[in-house]
Amino acid sequence: MDGNGRWAKARHLPRAVGHQRGVEAVRTLVRAARERGLEAMTLYAFSTENWNRPQDEVAALMGLLRHYIAADIEEFAQNGVRLQIIGDYSKLPGDVVKMLEDALARTAGNTGTTLAVALNYGSQDEIVRAARAAAAEGAITAEAIAANLDTAAMPPLDLLIRTSGEVRLSNFLLWQAAYAELWFTDVLWPDFTPAHLDEALAAFARRERRYGGR
Ligand code: FPP
Repeated sequence: MDGNGRWAKARHLPRAVGHQRGVEAVRTLVRAARERGLEAMTLYAFSTENWNRPQDEVAALMGLLRHYIAADIEEFAQNGVRLQIIGDYSKLPGDVVKMLEDALARTAGNTGTTLAVALNYGSQDEIVRAARAAAAEGAITAEAIAANLDTAAMPPLDLLIRTSGEVRLSNFLLWQAAYAELWFTDVLWPDFTPAHLDEALAAFARRERRYGGR
């Protein structure tokens, strides 16, 4: 969900306002994912590196997260959305951890779209944790690592979208992206609409996936 800061800067607004508009885009896109019958959608909300941002920006992001969970959990519960968290969210502020755990429990039985939110997430950290867990269980195989990733309960990653013109993965779902289709757009996250999602889905549908075969 890249580009919140640049969206705000272009309007001479504080970065926090960009993140606020980013949350509005999240709300719209979660609804769109549900309406389109997507099995799962994962949003990169806070990386293991984002702790290095100024303290007031980190605090603003945590505040938005609190507000979002409180405001939207009811809609999730009613519309069959199942929440998942990837990343070591135990390091977030205690009250946020508690809110997340309540929200996870509340939506655990839902069978509609899975909304995974990446919080204190870094793909290399995830792979290290999964490899350690696989070693503790026995052999370190690709299957054993995959079964211990934070995404173990989710369907395979089909399409990875990066907004704001950056053309890199930035430690997001590196293992899972092995055969994913990638879609890069210049649109900044606060400007990303369901129509942009449809454009990415249409391009995805036209791609021929060979998984290394012919
Ligand atoms: C990247 O934009 C965005 C983030 C680091 C934060 C995204 C988080 C939210 C929208 C809020 C919480 C999430 C949910 C799911 C409610 P950037 O600041 O790196 O933008 P820039 O590259 O233009 O500076």
